[in-house]
Amino acid sequence: MNKTYVLYFSPVGTTRLVAEAIYSGFGMKDLTVIDLCDPLEREKAIEFTNEDLVLMVFPVYAGRVVRIPRYYFNNIEGNGAKAITVVTYGNRAYDDALYELSKLAVDSGFEQIAAAAFVCEHSFDIDLAKDRPDNEDIEYAKTFGRKSVEKLDVMDAEGMNLSLNAHGVMKIIPGNFPFRTQFRHDFGGPLVPETSSECISCGKCARDCPVLAIPSDNFMTTDAKKCITCFRCIRKCPVSARSIPLKDFVDHAKWLTDTYQDRKEAEIFL
Ligand SMILES: Cc1cc2nc3c(=O)[nH]c(=O)nc-3n(C[C@H](O)[C@H](O)[C@H](O)COP(=O)(O)O)c2cc1C
Ligand code: SF4
Ligand code: SF4
Repeated sequence: MNKTYVLYFSPVGTTRLVAEAIYSGFGMKDLTVIDLCDPLEREKAIEFTNEDLVLMVFPVYAGRVVRIPRYYFNNIEGNGAKAITVVTYGNRAYDDALYELSKLAVDSGFEQIAAAAFVCEHSFDIDLAKDRPDNEDIEYAKTFGRKSVEKLDVMDAEGMNLSLNAHGVMKIIPGNFPFRTQFRHDFGGPLVPETSSECISCGKCARDCPVLAIPSDNFMTTDAKKCITCFRCIRKCPVSARSIPLKDFVDHAKWLTDTYQDRKEAEIFL
């Protein structure tokens, strides 16, 4: 293997924990870790080689992978690099998201060798998958990382015929193509955060927004065309001044909490 890369997008931070656990399971010291919440990182073109290994970890939004890789993957060239595709989700379902991420990787020239779906605390800050990934998830993620590298070693030494579908995606990945339409509920207004008078104008939300949807000179507004409703500004504001107070959304969040309490376990595909 030449180089190992980790590409992750983690607005609230749970996806990052899963990514870190997986790559700690690789047992490698020399890794390039790229945080794609930084818009500047997403502008950098990368040409991988067929000797490289690339771990990609992204959250599920409304039954699809967050839309970031749909654009970002135009900037990178797999050139036969091996890809491990992973989604995180908030204990409802990952629907077609893992298939979608895997297909995006294959379409960008990667060869998929392993995949997984991990449950993480729901971004909405509701009582759903609270405090996950927990110790059990983290240990499983490390094991997944170790097993993925072992598989790669066997492939390098003995060759291995991967069982792929017509899209070049591993046949065992669940999901359907064409992908499901992203859920779109009518919440009676755009699903973007509002800022209350509690705001102390610290600027953290504008600096940290992964899509630059909050103007740096006006923290009271949010660009609804840019906002991906990732909840980062809501969860990280030091005085809890950001929220989505729409009643229909609050009701929906309560419904999710009531409906999806049964613990789901991580799934790995090797
Ligand atoms: C807009 C939005 C939509 C989401 N849709 C789903 C979903 O369809 N299914 C699910 O189980 N979790 C869903 N989640 C939860 C996230 O996938 C999950 O909490 C993820 O771990 C967040 O990653 P982060 O902490 O790195 O930001 C959604 C979260 C957001 C913000
Ligand atoms: S992080 Fe909170 S307090 Fe700081 S500018 Fe944004 S809304 Fe205001
Ligand atoms: S403004 Fe939207 S995209 Fe930006 S951090 Fe807040 S929720 Fe995320």
